[in-house]
Amino acid sequence: MSSARDHFSSRLGVLAATLGSAVGLGNIWKFPALVGQNGGASFLLVYILATLCIGLPLMIVELSIGRAGRRNVVGVFRVIAPKSGWWLIGLGAVISCVFILGFYSDVAGWVFAYIFKAATGGAATTDPAAAQAAFARLTGDPVAALGWQWLVLILTGAIIMRGASQGIEKVTRILMPLLFLLLVGICLRSLTLPGAGEGLRFLFMPQWDRISGDVILMAMGLAFFKMSVGMGCMLIYGSYFKEDVHIPSVALRVMVCDLLVSLLAGIAIFPAVFSFDFAVEQGPALLFMTIPAVFASLPGGSLLTTVFFCLSAIAATGAILSLLEVPVSCLAERFSCSRTRAVPLVLAGLMLLGAPATLSLGIWQDVRVFGLTFFDAYDALSSMILMPVCGIATSLFVGWFWPERAALAALGNDRAARTVRLLCRSLTPLLILLVLLHGLGLV
Ligand code: PHE
Repeated sequence: MSSARDHFSSRLGVLAATLGSAVGLGNIWKFPALVGQNGGASFLLVYILATLCIGLPLMIVELSIGRAGRRNVVGVFRVIAPKSGWWLIGLGAVISCVFILGFYSDVAGWVFAYIFKAATGGAATTDPAAAQAAFARLTGDPVAALGWQWLVLILTGAIIMRGASQGIEKVTRILMPLLFLLLVGICLRSLTLPGAGEGLRFLFMPQWDRISGDVILMAMGLAFFKMSVGMGCMLIYGSYFKEDVHIPSVALRVMVCDLLVSLLAGIAIFPAVFSFDFAVEQGPALLFMTIPAVFASLPGGSLLTTVFFCLSAIAATGAILSLLEVPVSCLAERFSCSRTRAVPLVLAGLMLLGAPATLSLGIWQDVRVFGLTFFDAYDALSSMILMPVCGIATSLFVGWFWPERAALAALGNDRAARTVRLLCRSLTPLLILLVLLHGLGLV
């Protein structure tokens, strides 16, 4: 299969696909609230530093490994480091993607459901308690919750089936500009509200006393998750880059655009939240309770809420495409089968694996694994353990074990390449180790 390997055909396509992976629900329900709660502009600065030391070098490294080996995430290590155990990084990445998909597709399902709810006026309530009850009705109804999750999986699976250039590239080239357009539209509306100033102050006012060791570690974890590293997504996308793509520039552009989306999301959300005196939250509560209630208070609220969920759905779709591509390409290349076969197999597996996560917010809410619900257990296993472990292993591989000449050649043989390799020798893996230990509650 590798002889006629697919590739992204244009520069814009490369940027759209990679940005599509980085931009996700993290930009909307995590980033803005974390910035506001942890010191505004001061947190932003810490986050940018963390991205420069962890997220960016790892993104460059993963894209470069992918392009050097031009295989799926397991096979690529067999090409660039034959007769060694480094392929285990790829295996860890596949497992990590599958578990993330198990719960991320669940959340994406709720987002899609809310597009319809909002469009038909079903999400229009200014009472947070009523909004909470409406959300609980969705997550508590196994047929609806599973149905929406499966719809998302089938929809994204259909795109993946068409391959890198005809599927992922074509779709993200339309979705990414659309996302910016919708986001700017909501920002403009939000900024004209009476309490806008306070919302902006909440987001950007620097508060250095909020910066603690804990906050710094949180920013590092966020930088990791935001850039979609440590789980093979960048590796597999890099394998579709042509030789003439300058990887460090692509990664830097993705970092900047991703940050812009996060900031715009904050500007879209918080002025409205303050204008109506709602509490600042993050996670599902912000997305599915506060936002519908806040926008419902505005004239044209249903339209605004619908647009907001459309843009959240776009963000989730780009991220899911990259996650899905990891196991699909692995299966297709390992067993030399077509995508038409590999995709349904992967989807069937994901539907089975995702169901416990979905049900754990409803009828299975009392079932625990290691003291966690399935939903939280999937999240913990993938983002707290597997992602940092794979990230550390990848940087150590590039810094110490990949022969210097091969590593530098893959990274582009320039100053950026040498800097990235140097970072991978010490600072980057050390910082990720701290994130790992912090996640496990050991520091
Ligand atoms: N970066 C995505 C977000 O912000 C999440 C993600 C992580 C996607 C890892 C793919 C891989 O939501």
